[in-house]
Amino acid sequence: MNKAADLPTEFIDTDEVDCNPSTHPDFDAVLEARLSRRNVLRGSAGTAAAALFGSLAVSACGGGNDDPTPLPVAPAPPAEKLLGFPAVSKSLLDSVVVPAGYTATPIYALGDPLTSTAAAYKNDGTDSDFENRSGDHHDGMEWFGLSAAGQPSATSVDRGLLAVNHEATTDERLSSFFIHADGGTTTLLITKYSPTGTRTRGTLNNCGTGKTPWGTFLTGEENWAGYFTRPVGDDAARGGDKSATALRRYGRGEGAASRHGWETGGIADKYARWNISKIGASTDGSDDYRNELNGMGYVVEVDAYDKSKVARKRSALGRFAHESASFSKPVAGQPLALYMGDDSRNEYIYKWVSAANWDAADANPADRMAVGNKYLDNGKLYVARFDAAGSGQWLELSFSNPVVAAFATYPFADQADVSIHSRLAADALGATRMDRPEWCGVHPANGEIYFSLTNNSNRRAVPTPGGSQLEPDSANPRAYTDIKGMSTSQSGNPNGHILRVKDGAAGPAALSFTWDVYLFGAEASAAPGAVNLSSLTGDQDFSSPDGLVFSPSTGICWVQTDDGAFTDVTNCMMLAALPGQVGDGKKVTLSYPRTGQAALAVETYVGKAPTVDTLKRFLVGPVGCEITGLCETPDGKALFVNIQHPGENTVQANLADPTLYTSQWPGNAGYGVGKRPRSATIVITKNDGGRVGSL
Ligand code: FEO
Ligand code: CA
Ligand code: CA
Repeated sequence: MNKAADLPTEFIDTDEVDCNPSTHPDFDAVLEARLSRRNVLRGSAGTAAAALFGSLAVSACGGGNDDPTPLPVAPAPPAEKLLGFPAVSKSLLDSVVVPAGYTATPIYALGDPLTSTAAAYKNDGTDSDFENRSGDHHDGMEWFGLSAAGQPSATSVDRGLLAVNHEATTDERLSSFFIHADGGTTTLLITKYSPTGTRTRGTLNNCGTGKTPWGTFLTGEENWAGYFTRPVGDDAARGGDKSATALRRYGRGEGAASRHGWETGGIADKYARWNISKIGASTDGSDDYRNELNGMGYVVEVDAYDKSKVARKRSALGRFAHESASFSKPVAGQPLALYMGDDSRNEYIYKWVSAANWDAADANPADRMAVGNKYLDNGKLYVARFDAAGSGQWLELSFSNPVVAAFATYPFADQADVSIHSRLAADALGATRMDRPEWCGVHPANGEIYFSLTNNSNRRAVPTPGGSQLEPDSANPRAYTDIKGMSTSQSGNPNGHILRVKDGAAGPAALSFTWDVYLFGAEASAAPGAVNLSSLTGDQDFSSPDGLVFSPSTGICWVQTDDGAFTDVTNCMMLAALPGQVGDGKKVTLSYPRTGQAALAVETYVGKAPTVDTLKRFLVGPVGCEITGLCETPDGKALFVNIQHPGENTVQANLADPTLYTSQWPGNAGYGVGKRPRSATIVITKNDGGRVGSL
C-alpha cells in the first residue's frame, strides 16, 4: 500500500508531539482520550505522551484489566534469563499471542485520529478526513526519545515518539510532500515539476527503516515502480534510447499498467506524473514525466525531531527496492558502513561506506540533516558477490570501475547515472542474485550483519530455459517443494533463510567478507538433510523471515515473518534469537539429482543449530497479517511491534461484509469499534516490569 503517500503528514503530526508538546495540545488530547478509553494505564501521568511511552514501559501493565487500583509494591524480580520465557505455540487464532507473563496492547491503528478535531474512527467504510488519521499497513518503526524538556534524548524512557512507516494503502491517496533528490550532474531527474532535476514529490511504499547514529530516521522506498504506467509505444517515442533499457530493468517495460490507476484521476499535474511515457518534445524531459520514475527508489532521511527540515532522498546510496538500512557500529576514526537489501526476487545486497570517518561529536548535533549530508552523500557504494567457499567480495559501483564504464547493456554517463541505476551496475559486476533480501540488522556485540532472505519461488535445480529461474547457489542453496494444506505445492525456496556476513579485517571499509547461513526457515517436520537444515523444533519453526532487528538493550535478534507458505499451520510470527557467529556451524553439501545429467552439488555453510536457549517463538499474530517493524524504549522494557494487514487473505467476494473477513482484529481485542481488521502498532510489556525477552 502506498501509504507512503501518507507518511509525511503523519510525521508532521508526530513531530508536533515530540518537538514541543506544551504548545501542541491537540495530539496530547487525542492520546489521552484514547488511553483513557482503553484504560491501558494505571495511576496518573503528567501527559499522555509520557503515559504512553513512560508509565506503560516501566509499570506492570495488566492489559485488559480495567481495575485502576494502584499496583502493590512489586517484589524483587527474579534473576534475568534471556529467552527464559515459555515458547508460544504456532497459532491460527485471530489474536496476538505472547508468552505467559507478557501483555500485548494495541495503541495506534488505521484510522485513529491524529488531531483533536478528527472524529472518532467509525470503521464502517464511511470514514473520511484521512489527512488527520493514522495511515494503513504499519511497517518499519523507530523510537526517538525525548527529555522532560522535550529535547532529543538517547536515554529517556519516559517520553519519546514513534516514527512509523505506512507501507501501502487500501484507499489510495496522493501526497503533496516535497523532498530533495540529489541527482548529481546527470539530467536523469529532470521533470516538468523540477526542470533542474533536484526535487521530486513524495515518497512511495515506505517499508523498512533505520536510525542513524546522529538521530535521524531512514525509510526505504520499496516497491515503487508499480505505481507508474508506461503505455505501449513509449520505447519508440524515446527513440529506443538507453532509458527504455533502464525502465525495463526497473520493472516498467512498455505496456506496464499502474497498480492504482492514479494517472486516470484527472488532468491535473498531480495525476499526470504517474504516466511516465515521453509525451513532450523537449530533449531533457522538462515538459513531461518521462523521468519521474527516477525520483523514487531511495533511502529517505527524515529528521523526526524537526518537521521544518526537508527530507532528503540519499541517492548516493543507490536506487532499488529498499527495505531497511542498518549501520555498522560507529567507531571514532573509521568510516560508517550502511547495509541494505533490494527486495525483489533475484536482486542484490549492498553496502555503503562513508568517505568521512565517524566523529563522536556528530552523535548529538545541532543540525542533524547536515550531518546526514556528511556521511550519506559522499562515499562508495558496493554490491555483494557471495563465493562458494564461504567468502565474498564487495564490488564497487563506480563509474571509474572499468567494468561498469564498459557495460554494453547500459552505457553509463557518469557516477550519478550509476547511483540511479545501481541494479544495472550490479549486473555489470556479476553480483550474486539473492532470494529476496528483506531487512538487515547488525549484531550489537560482534558487528556481524544479518540479512533476511524471505523466499524465492524461482530457484530450481533445473531452471526452465530462457526464464528467470536460477539454480541454487552457495548462498541461496535450497530448491525444493513444500506442500501447503492438502494439495498446494510450492517450489523454489518457499521458506527463506537468514544469511549473515562478517566483514574482513578492515571492518566497515572491508572489500572482502566471510558468511554463513544463520538459519534456514522450515517446518520442523521437513527433511533434515535438505530442507530443515537448521534442525528447527516445533517451538522454533518459521517461514519467510522479513523483519529483523537486534535489540540495543538485550541484544536479542527479533525475527519477524511475512509468510504465505506456512500459513496453513500458523499465522505469521516473531521469534527471539541469541545467535552465535559466522562460522560456528559446518559445511553442508546439498545434492540435486537431474535427469539426463550429473547431479548438481551445492556447498553451503550452516550456522550452529539453535537450542531451546537460543531460539524461541515469542509471538504469533492474528489471521492474515504480517509482523513487521520493531523498536523499544532504551531500557528494553517496552517493545513496539507492528501488525500489518490482518485479514489480508479475505476473499474478494467477502469484502463487502466485515463479518466475513478472516480477521476482526483489533476490534475483537477490545480496540475500537467495528469488525473490519486494522493494521496497528502494539506495545509489549513484561508483567513484572522486566525487559522484554527475559524470563
Ligand atoms: Fe515491504 Fe519487503 O517488505
Ligand atoms: Ca508446508
Ligand atoms: Ca518487509
